[in-house]
Amino acid sequence: MSTPSTEGQVPTTSAADGARALAGVVLPVLARGAIARRPRAVLGAQAAELDARAVRTMRHLRERYGPGPVQVRIPRRRFTFLLEPDQVHRVLNASPEPFAAATREKRGALGHFQPEGVLVSSPEERAVRKPFNDDVLEAGSPVHQHGQKMADAVQEEMDALLGHVEFTGTLVWDDFVRAWMRMVRRIVLGDSARDDEAVTDDLVRLRKDANWSFVKPTRRGHRDRLLRRLADYVDRAEPGSLAQMVASVPAPPGTEPHQQIPQWLFAFDAGTWATVRALALVAAHPGAAQRARDELPQSPDLPFLRATVLESLRLWPTTPAILRDTTEETAWAGGSLPAGASVMIFAPFFHRDDTRVPEAHRFAPELWMRERTDADWPFVPFSGGPAMCSGRNVVLLAASTALGRLLERHDFTLEDPPLSADRPLPGTLSPFHLRFTPHPLQ
Ligand code: HEM
Repeated sequence: MSTPSTEGQVPTTSAADGARALAGVVLPVLARGAIARRPRAVLGAQAAELDARAVRTMRHLRERYGPGPVQVRIPRRRFTFLLEPDQVHRVLNASPEPFAAATREKRGALGHFQPEGVLVSSPEERAVRKPFNDDVLEAGSPVHQHGQKMADAVQEEMDALLGHVEFTGTLVWDDFVRAWMRMVRRIVLGDSARDDEAVTDDLVRLRKDANWSFVKPTRRGHRDRLLRRLADYVDRAEPGSLAQMVASVPAPPGTEPHQQIPQWLFAFDAGTWATVRALALVAAHPGAAQRARDELPQSPDLPFLRATVLESLRLWPTTPAILRDTTEETAWAGGSLPAGASVMIFAPFFHRDDTRVPEAHRFAPELWMRERTDADWPFVPFSGGPAMCSGRNVVLLAASTALGRLLERHDFTLEDPPLSADRPLPGTLSPFHLRFTPHPLQ
């Protein structure tokens, strides 16, 4: 067995461990589609329990290479895996410098549909774009000033969905995602965008290319058309929409307001996966649906349902790999990391390591029903620090409201249940293949 090299830098794994990390951690993330998920690949990952294996691989790296971080050499690139909670907090809290969110990988991928988005911006651009995103999305506020209008859109679309599933007798992914996207277009662009599937289709096309990063040329025609349509919605500024906020929130030079919108439309997709999986958690855990129903009339901010969505995101993070590039040399207990190093936080490792997190594989909404700080073990479904997700409260509002509406007058059972309250929850759960039977309450 070869010995890890140190030479003043943080350790690099042996070639064998590097290959194991590449095959077991990095490639499964890419194979499933980092930007647009490939449902069949996700089902394959579920069958092969790839995420549970990835967590075991990460644990092996920590056991072998000490507290880390540890570098993994892959063709033409080195990834540095963080292995301890304090490293995660440090990196996320020090974005964008010296840990830049606009990594080479993200610029390659997101450039296909949001070349001026905040996530791929330089520190100077970020200085105006991040506050703009935070202001429009009211990042720090659990209920957005358009919250009632958002909730109305969610409830109307969920009611239409329920009408449909009562007729078919089953709730399946395709029906849910159609209703969800109508709701998203109404929230983001305005009610008149409800049936503008062309916007979503253009974005999906570009996101599929984004899976291939720099390898695929950008479809500039599609991208320009998408951005033009988004600019039209901003001009229309329908009352109660985020487009209206974009039109009215002050935007200093360099903000590129309408070019921030593709990220929001794209990111709402993760909300679909999280919500469907959260419904599966509720269906699989006796008492959870009633607990949700009990809070509906009492707590407009739906704490239990929010915590359920957050649990769905802890158990099955929709951004499993949070990436940062170092902008200067940084010092660590195990040595230094040069500028330009690629740092990876593999969220499932921190969310699902049962040697450190007793609740790792069970539904534990109580984890989220109190304030969390950097003193806590890192659960980072929305990242953290200055580049934390600006849309977290908007999406949690939409998802918890959607779940509340579905559960208000229905129970749901899972068909061929891939999860149960009596077993450890699986490391991977394809939302695309879940099927529910609705049972109207008497
Ligand atoms: C369940 C749904 C969502 C999840 C799990 C999620 C997660 C994340 C994560 C992990 C990041 C950081 C990525 C990184 O550090 O590289 C991020 C960034 C971001 N998200 Fe979300 N997101 C979700 C939905 C949304 C929605 C619906 C919006 C807008 C309406 C939104 C807006 C943003 C923005 C603007 C950023 C960039 C923040 C920055 O660069 O400072 N997200 N999100």
